[in-house]
Amino acid sequence: RRHVLDLDDFSAQEIDEILETAVSMKEVLGRAIKQVPTLRGKTIVNMFFEESTRTRISFELAGKALSANVVNFTARGSSVEKGESLIDTVRTLQALGADMLVMRHSESGAPYLVAQHFHGSVINAGDGRHAHPTQALLDLFTVRQRLGRIEGLKVVIVGDILHSRVARSDLWGFTRMGALVTLCAPQTLIGPEAFWKATWPDLTITSNLDECVRDADVIMTLRLQKERMEAGLLPSLREYTRFFAITAERVARAAPHCLVMHPGPMNEGVEIMPDVAVSAQSVIEEQVANGVAVRMALLYRLSGE
Ligand code: CP
Repeated sequence: RRHVLDLDDFSAQEIDEILETAVSMKEVLGRAIKQVPTLRGKTIVNMFFEESTRTRISFELAGKALSANVVNFTARGSSVEKGESLIDTVRTLQALGADMLVMRHSESGAPYLVAQHFHGSVINAGDGRHAHPTQALLDLFTVRQRLGRIEGLKVVIVGDILHSRVARSDLWGFTRMGALVTLCAPQTLIGPEAFWKATWPDLTITSNLDECVRDADVIMTLRLQKERMEAGLLPSLREYTRFFAITAERVARAAPHCLVMHPGPMNEGVEIMPDVAVSAQSVIEEQVANGVAVRMALLYRLSGE
């Protein structure tokens, strides 16, 4: 494998191997000296055309923990502002010695285009509404570390599914690993059921959150993506919060061990209540921390293939 563009072309065995490697990487991060020489001499460019805190910083930490040269590129302040094209930017970074590109872009599909022009590996760090494969891998890792398995778990993904690249990559990952996934959202934020069922026929789709959280093992809530929202899609914030926010009462309907997850950044008080976000069942900060080990595992795997 050269690129990581989404999880649709990953087998369960490949995902399993990455999650196993991430366990070892987490051990490295637990040591006094959090560094191994695995990627010494390699150059990783974090190429971000859209804002990020977790993904960009965890890729930087992951690359440095593997002793790679890590360079951060943001569109702002670069020659992109003078009109340089995406492909010319990639060719320039290649000429400067980049071995791997970690790429975030607001246009769905942009990393696929870049992968056709770059000689090294391209990792999709989030493209438009399409995919966020490394978020899905760290979500899988967090669930497996906490609950010991993924197969057979009831995973409820709730919120702005329509605009969510995390929802799509999580769907590939959790279904491939044998979880039973429910999507829950207002009709306007999920789109036609037939669209989802064409790819994932076993999916449950509903707008009744109170009902579908019953006995859930995992509740994954998503951010309302106002920056991608077209006018008229959201009835009102008050109505959304009343029917779709994760509250303590709703979590109490789920299994006692149920994990509350959110990829971040959160709109607290909108899709999740502040007390739930910091409750004992919340693993939101653990997701962030696990992102470093999982991304180390992925960089390591790509460097060896
Ligand atoms: N989950 C996630 O992608 O967060 P950032 O936008 O902060 O990277």
